[in-house]
Amino acid sequence: MRAGRSGWPADELADEDTFERRRKTRTRRPQGRRRLEDLTAGETGTPPEGVIRFLLDRGHITEVVAELKSGKEATAYVARGPRGSVLLKLYRDLEARSFKQDGVYREGQVILDKRAARAMQARSRKGLEMLQAGWVCAEYAHLWHLWRAGLNVPEPLVGPEPTEYGQTVPAVLMRLIGSEDHPAPRLSDARLSPAEAHSAWQQAVQGMADLLRLGYAHGDYSTYNLLWWENTVILIDFPQLTTRQNPNFQQLLRRDAESLATSFRRHGLTESGEQTLREVQRRAAGPGPTPRVLLP
Ligand SMILES: Nc1ncnc2c1ncn2[C@@H]1O[C@H](COP(=O)(O)OP(=O)(O)OP(=O)(O)O)[C@@H](O)[C@H]1O
Ligand SMILES: [Mg+2]
Repeated sequence: MRAGRSGWPADELADEDTFERRRKTRTRRPQGRRRLEDLTAGETGTPPEGVIRFLLDRGHITEVVAELKSGKEATAYVARGPRGSVLLKLYRDLEARSFKQDGVYREGQVILDKRAARAMQARSRKGLEMLQAGWVCAEYAHLWHLWRAGLNVPEPLVGPEPTEYGQTVPAVLMRLIGSEDHPAPRLSDARLSPAEAHSAWQQAVQGMADLLRLGYAHGDYSTYNLLWWENTVILIDFPQLTTRQNPNFQQLLRRDAESLATSFRRHGLTESGEQTLREVQRRAAGPGPTPRVLLP
């Protein structure tokens, strides 16, 4: 099997156990979370150092309420804004993020600016900043696209112009799913009745098919990135969304189907990755959701 240019061997993508191993590695990694009181201490008001100050000054948020969860690449906070409760996803400091695995998702991307391409490849300070901005802006861009297309994803709260959301790097602001006191659980944490598990599975498969119809593979699709709220599955975590332009597309798609099937075992589902992928492909050929915004 071909090895990816990223340094992440392509055959690892197809390995059935990869999903579980990655989860274990992740939980052992030091979290390096920021303390809540440090968040508003930024003096400069310019991102990334003073990003919270900047968001407050610009009126994007009025208050940070609580830290929700510290994940592998970002910490999630519950905040308030002019339009209600906000999920503020603050990506880690550049130094704390490895970027070791980003190549597999970015393969096939064209960087026309040679100097920028060199800086990113060399992982210089400037290059890391560019990678960070690219990662954060990609999450916004995907959220906007998917939300407008009618998929069950959180509504992005800054944009839709890249000049607008580009200013909030390294933060992404989106609508909080659930309430401030009870944010929506991930499907990996939710307790479901057999009927709920069946419905969640159907929706998760449909969600993956909706992405595929638009030409995307999520790249990290499992119950760890699916929220469960009012009997509805909401897809999250999109920085690594991949298109067919990426030579690893098929393998990422296959791995997503396997991760989805494996992660649903605790809810009593026994579908194989292969069956899941076939069902996703079948549904992707069918009708999609109604768009929220109709383009002219
Ligand atoms: N819009 C939202 N509403 C409510 N909770 C959310 C929302 N978005 C994210 N979360 C919570 O924040 C956590 C981290 O978000 P996300 O998965 O996007 O980041 P991550 O850095 O990849 O974290 P992880 O390693 O846990 O996957 C999620 O697992 C979920 O519990
Ligand atoms: Mg996640």
